[in-house]
Amino acid sequence: MASNLTEETLTEAVQRTFDTSADARFRQLMVCLVQHLHDFAREVRLTGEEWFYAMDFVERLGKISTPTRQEVVLASDILGLSMLLDTMNKSPGGSATDSALLGPFYVEGRPRADNSDDISNGVAGTPMFVTGRILDERGEPIAGAHVDTWHSDGAGFYDVQQTDKLHNEFAMRALLTTDDEGRFWYRSITPRYYPVPTDGPCGEILGAANRSIMRPQHVHFWFHAEGYQPLITQLFLKDDPYIGRDAVFADQTSLHADFVRHEPGTAPDGTAVDEPFVTLDWTFTLATTGAE
Ligand code: BEZ
Ligand code: FE
Repeated sequence: MASNLTEETLTEAVQRTFDTSADARFRQLMVCLVQHLHDFAREVRLTGEEWFYAMDFVERLGKISTPTRQEVVLASDILGLSMLLDTMNKSPGGSATDSALLGPFYVEGRPRADNSDDISNGVAGTPMFVTGRILDERGEPIAGAHVDTWHSDGAGFYDVQQTDKLHNEFAMRALLTTDDEGRFWYRSITPRYYPVPTDGPCGEILGAANRSIMRPQHVHFWFHAEGYQPLITQLFLKDDPYIGRDAVFADQTSLHADFVRHEPGTAPDGTAVDEPFVTLDWTFTLATTGAE
C-alpha cells in the first residue's frame, strides 16, 4: 500500500486495489464509484459531522426496511435514480408503453384472479372497472400474458399499510392472465393520491427540501409474456391535483389516463351498479425480447 497519500493521490490508490478483480464489470463499477464518491466529498468539502450523518442515514434505511416497507427503494425513487434507470433502459424508437417505477408496495404472493373478478377483497370504496389490452409492436394481441396489478384504496393506503384492519390479507392487488385477444379486466375500488412514507429517513430529505411528498392517483401494472420484455408501469389520473409534481418523478404524460366517472348504471362487464363508478381503459404495448 502506498504511503504519504494526499487528497489528490488517494483516489487512484484505492482504485488500483481493484486491478486484481476477476470480473471486469465489477472492476469498472467500483473504480467509477470510488471516483464519484471521492469527487463528491472533495467538491462539497464534506465535513466529518456530515459524513457521520450520512452513514447513520444509510444504516437507518436498512433498519426500517422490511419485505413490505422498502425504504432503500424509496430513497432511490425520491432521488430520481429509479426513473433515470427506467428512462436510460428504454428501447430507442420503439412503440412500447413507457415504464414507470415499481415502488415499494409490490409484494410477492399476491392472489391469482380470473378476469371479471372483484379484487378489492371487500375494502369499501367507489367501484372501479379496469379493462386493458396488451398488444405487440405490430398491433397483434398477446394472449396468456401475466398481468400483476396493485393500487391504493380511496384514502390512499395500500393493503400492506393496513395490517391491523386487513389482518395481512391481500386486497386491491392480483395476478391475472390475458385472454386470446390480449384482454384483461377486473373490478376493484378507485384509488387516490397519497403521500410517500415520510416517517423514515427519506422523510428527512423531503422535509429538509420542503418538497412535495405526494404521488398522483395511479394504478400499477407489471406485465410478463414469453418472448417479450417485461413492463413495469403505472397509469395516472390525468387531472389529479398532484399530476406533474410526483414525488418520485414517474408521472410522465404518456401515462396520463382518464378515470371516467359514471352515474349508476351498467359497468363494462355488464354488471348493474347502483352507485357512481369509475372506468379505466388502456391499451399497452410490449416490445419483443430481441429489441433491447
Ligand atoms: C408507489 O407507487 O407505490 C410508490 C412509489 C414510490 C414511492 C412510494 C410509493
Ligand atoms: Fe403506488
